[in-house]
Amino acid sequence: RTATLDAILTRSPVIPVLVVEDAAQAVPLARALVAGGIPVLEITLRSAAALDAIRRIAAEVPEAIVGAGTVLNPAQFAAAQMAGAKFVISPGATEALYFTAKDTGLPYLPAIATASEIMRAMEQGFLRAKFFPAESSGGIAALKGFGGPFPEMKFCPTGGVTEANLRSYTSLPNVFAAGGSWLAPKQMVQTGDWAGITAIAKKAVQIAKGQ
Ligand code: 3PG
Repeated sequence: RTATLDAILTRSPVIPVLVVEDAAQAVPLARALVAGGIPVLEITLRSAAALDAIRRIAAEVPEAIVGAGTVLNPAQFAAAQMAGAKFVISPGATEALYFTAKDTGLPYLPAIATASEIMRAMEQGFLRAKFFPAESSGGIAALKGFGGPFPEMKFCPTGGVTEANLRSYTSLPNVFAAGGSWLAPKQMVQTGDWAGITAIAKKAVQIAKGQ
């Protein structure tokens, strides 16, 4: 399970957390991010257009690996899978979601914010997790702390990650990628500033890699 998830998530050092309000924006947005070196995309189920956006990207942008985010329950998990999501991410985790993830075999990234939640993830056999909300849950210091008792756990911090603190997260040994909404500012998506989003993506990939 860890290997399957790693095969997807290590393709990009940054993972955009996307809210697509209009499904017609999905394909150009995905292409803009892919052009900037970011093939792994999290489309959050926070908008009515989200599942349609996943469907379109899965069908029309083969270079992208599209997943569903903000998946809160098994029904949304199933809907995401039906739409063609290649992976699923939650802002937390529940027993029902762990069960569904194992039952379907679709790569699943649960989220944790505390040591007990990490222990529950490990009990379920999950060694990769999103750390959310990263900045308000202790940020860099918390991740360093988790590294002591949980050396096999690796994280993707999101929630308050920006260009300014990105490198301090991705330079940690237990961070495989960092995510956030800053990679596709709402205004730029609405106005179709795809070149601008490609530029942000390129810069973020460089910063994340320490280049
Ligand atoms: C998430 O779901 O990961 C967050 O909404 C992203 O948080 P951000 O907007 O602070 O990047």
